[in-house]
Amino acid sequence: MSTLKQSPIAYIRKDQDRGQDKKPLDYGMFVRIFSYTKPYASKRNILLGFVILRSIQLPILLWGIGAIINGPIYRHDVRGMFWAVGAFLAFTLFTQITFHYRQKLALELGELVIHDVRRDIFKHMMNMPMGFFSRTRLGRLISLITSDSEAVRNGIQSVVFVTMVQAGNMIIAAMLMFWYDWKMFLVVLAMAPIIWGLNRYFRQRLINAYREVQESFSRVTATVVESIKGMKIIQSYARQDLNSEIFRDLVYDHSTYNLRVTQAEATFLPLLEVNSQFFLSALLVYGGSRVLGHDMTLASFIYFFFLSGMFFSPIQVLAGQYQQALTAMAGAERLFKFLDSKPDWQDHGNVVKLDKVDGKIELKDVTFAYKPERNVLVDINFTAEPGQTVALVGATGSGKTTITNLITKFYLPSQGRVLIDGKDILEIETKSLRRHLGIVLQVNFLFTGTVMENILVGRPGATEEEAVEAARKIDCFDLIEALPDGFQTVVGESGAGLSLGQRQIICFSRAMLANPRIFVLDEATSSVDAITEERLQNALAKLLAGRTSFVVAHRLSTIRNADMVLVLEGGRIVERGNHRQLLKINGVYARLYREFMVAHEL
Ligand SMILES: Nc1ncnc2c1ncn2[C@@H]1O[C@H](COP(=O)(O)OP(=O)(O)OP(=O)(O)O)[C@@H](O)[C@H]1O
Ligand SMILES: [Mg+2]
Repeated sequence: MSTLKQSPIAYIRKDQDRGQDKKPLDYGMFVRIFSYTKPYASKRNILLGFVILRSIQLPILLWGIGAIINGPIYRHDVRGMFWAVGAFLAFTLFTQITFHYRQKLALELGELVIHDVRRDIFKHMMNMPMGFFSRTRLGRLISLITSDSEAVRNGIQSVVFVTMVQAGNMIIAAMLMFWYDWKMFLVVLAMAPIIWGLNRYFRQRLINAYREVQESFSRVTATVVESIKGMKIIQSYARQDLNSEIFRDLVYDHSTYNLRVTQAEATFLPLLEVNSQFFLSALLVYGGSRVLGHDMTLASFIYFFFLSGMFFSPIQVLAGQYQQALTAMAGAERLFKFLDSKPDWQDHGNVVKLDKVDGKIELKDVTFAYKPERNVLVDINFTAEPGQTVALVGATGSGKTTITNLITKFYLPSQGRVLIDGKDILEIETKSLRRHLGIVLQVNFLFTGTVMENILVGRPGATEEEAVEAARKIDCFDLIEALPDGFQTVVGESGAGLSLGQRQIICFSRAMLANPRIFVLDEATSSVDAITEERLQNALAKLLAGRTSFVVAHRLSTIRNADMVLVLEGGRIVERGNHRQLLKINGVYARLYREFMVAHEL
């Protein structure tokens, strides 16, 4: 562990994925999970029928054995015995058929429910605003869909129905015992408080342990995700050993929690078993003395013993189920907490759809902070007329991307207003606004799929011909054709297998296909070779023509051609005007420009 202490980012905060409230788990959660079975009510009800049938069948089987001993065997009736055993076997077959359907339907129901739960979670995720994703770790979200959902599925498929069958067995066995011999039944009942006490003691320990297990697993997932995403950095800074050590630490934690669970279980279950053996012994002594005192027949005593077996054996199964129920509830708690989390903002009720857009965009007295205590933009005022190109320049961290985030409504201004064609962005339905927006991000994003599919993302419903046409319009058709399989070239995850320039061309074609009124481009700083650069500049000029465009510009040509350049410094607009006007002022922009010229040896 010594290397861990000396290196930066050498530990993972272990309270990161902790649930905030530690309130005890409640059964309301189960009710809520079960509300997901509503669309499948008929299947669920048939299943319940099988469950009830099975909880009656098992005691009947036992009763059958008792009746055969007490009846034909007791009377030395061989023929009767064979008939009775035949009936017993037939009933057993019936029981097994019930069992088959009980299980089949439960598995199907669980699968259906978890499908819907996963669908809801994913949908909820898709509609969360950007702020949520910058706060939440990816791995946390992944474990919602994987381990937490699995736990809930198990809860539905087995816990509830197994519990019902076993509990039914217990109740029927109890009723039969009471009916046969209530005094002996009271001996059995004396066990209840002890079981209750044991249960209570282990319950709290297990709840906490299960939560720790799931939370630590979510940290393990999160770390795997982050490490794979950052593999290049890990390997280039030779952090493999260090990261492996961090990971080992997390996995070690996870196994420690798992062991804690096992330990509690391993104490709990034997204790329960010892208890039932102890009570069976007490029953032997009490019942035995009554048989010896001719107060009870041997056959009745044997029969009673069968019943008490049926009463005791579910206890262990139920205890096991109880533990699974806790895991399921811990999972459900996290799922519902996520599903209940409200987005930071949502379109309010009376927003209007944006049909036609001229493309006038104004920011009025806009102040914005990602986190309450630190303003990232202050007093931003500007107007972009329809069709104008606005270049945003400034040092890194000055707030360029943030301005585009407000125009695209990924975030809402903390103060002030963003207006499109004079309409406050708050009054416009977000979805309809985005239909008029084309966005190319600082970090290009491509989906796994072909180049063609990636371009078609730009406008749902567009044909392949239109996609090709879009590439032609920005003069990049030949560049895409030159890829190994042309438009059908398969792109790896987030664009793997393509060069930066190629990715940018695809993103430009996608934006061209969308043909938006408003276009936002966050240029990447990374440079491409001179020839590609020229092609990209041409493509860009075509893309910008005739639309209101906001470009976070690093290319001098874009800045020179812009109608308005906004120079940002520390979240404020310090200079504005076109290239020539700004050079004349000889201020911040002129300095940036000179630095740029020196850096590029122009
Ligand atoms: N999601 C976020 N949460 C909190 N703070 C953020 C977030 N995104 C950006 N910031 C902060 O806001 C400030 C402005 O960031 P922004 O991304 O707008 O800079 P930029 O001008 O685009 O820089 P660059 O040229 O490096 O892309 C920075 O100080 C940054 O630390
Ligand atoms: Mg940026």
